[in-house]
Amino acid sequence: MADTAPSLLIVGARLVNEGQVTEADVLVTGGRIAAIGGDLSSRRADLVIEAQGKYLLPGLIDDQVHFREPGLTHKADLASESRAAVAGGVTSFMDMPNVNPATLTAELLEERCALAAAASVANYAFYLGAANDNLDRIRRLRPGAACGVKVFMGSSTGNMLVDQPDVLAGIFRDAPGLVAVHCEDDPTIRANERIWRARHGDDVPMDQHPVIRSREACLKSSQLAVELAGEHGTRLHVLHLSTAQELDLFSPGPVDGKRITAEVCVHHLWFSDADYGRLGGLIKCNPAIKSADDRTALRAALRDGRLDVIATDHAPHTRQEKASPYFGCPSGLPLVQFLLPALYALCAEGVLTLPELVEKACHNPARVFGVAERGFVREGWWADLVLLDPQRPLTARDDLVLSKCGWTPLAGVTFPATVDTTIVSGQVAWRDGRIGPACRGQRLAFTPARA
Ligand code: DOR
Repeated sequence: MADTAPSLLIVGARLVNEGQVTEADVLVTGGRIAAIGGDLSSRRADLVIEAQGKYLLPGLIDDQVHFREPGLTHKADLASESRAAVAGGVTSFMDMPNVNPATLTAELLEERCALAAAASVANYAFYLGAANDNLDRIRRLRPGAACGVKVFMGSSTGNMLVDQPDVLAGIFRDAPGLVAVHCEDDPTIRANERIWRARHGDDVPMDQHPVIRSREACLKSSQLAVELAGEHGTRLHVLHLSTAQELDLFSPGPVDGKRITAEVCVHHLWFSDADYGRLGGLIKCNPAIKSADDRTALRAALRDGRLDVIATDHAPHTRQEKASPYFGCPSGLPLVQFLLPALYALCAEGVLTLPELVEKACHNPARVFGVAERGFVREGWWADLVLLDPQRPLTARDDLVLSKCGWTPLAGVTFPATVDTTIVSGQVAWRDGRIGPACRGQRLAFTPARA
């Protein structure tokens, strides 16, 4: 249990927190941060971690993952994927409802929390899924039971498209709390699919995915979401933006006070359509990875605040499933295990600074969702922490992958830093390449969302 976890003293780290990088020691007792100070070396602790030369960050909060349990556990499960998460510096995750059965009721949501309580080494929350026929259940959702309501305004893995205008309006008007949306206009995609199927049969070249799942489809749907939110005063969070054109829908600046926030995923910041030739179906995902110009625009929007949060949309499928021709190849890719190393590589490239990384991957997810007492390194708050070693490069390989699918689209990439240690609610979840087997995550608690 977290509150009986052994005490920890982290000595000599470079703490990256709340916009600053400072030399600091951190003492953890009872799962929480007991003290942050310039020199706490005289304090006693069960475990002392010498962290000279390493960065200490709040644990990352990934607001979009697909850990596939229940029902799709041949691809992934809560134990395997939460292990991959802590190896990637992620201490809390928010899991999507497109499992089997889909998470369309409060009862199913509680069942998933019970599964996670038994199996997850990271902290967890689940979205309630929206469907064309569960508006009443959405209205009755207890505040704090879910991290939000997830609406597939474009179809993807699972059969969860919400396309009835009156239902969409009802969700945007009545959902208690945050509404998170996947935006791709389905009729546009279906029309494109018909054209490409007529040309190529089932074997459409993978690099046509962003032409079929087009920028027009993304923009049309994101525009509708933003319009509906304006009309109904919805607390809207638009997931995985992928095009330059959509970015003008969002306001720059800090997240506080925004009613409409936006997320970008690491694969849209990392890959471009030039990578389909090399990686093919492995990087097929929805929304599709688009051009290098889109990637440049997404990176810029991250810095000016039009994009508030970075996540993974970790969506594992088996290697065999991914080897299928276009129409049989499921969309989604596993990313959570390399999230922090990949983001640090973007820092090394000058795409963002380390304090900005912490803002977008730790502080802002906590602010956007109103996560209680996590996402920041603060005395009295839960000790969700990551030590990153910038002197130890890491080369991603399939045989290092802890996700059940056993592959990574980043195989062969050398990152300039390694996740040395991950602490979840004061427990060692990951250290020196090994999982802390006794570690258990906690259910995330939510205050009324601040943003
Ligand atoms: O590429 C994707 N895969 N996008 C989604 O929206 C769903 C996800 C999955 O569950 O496989």
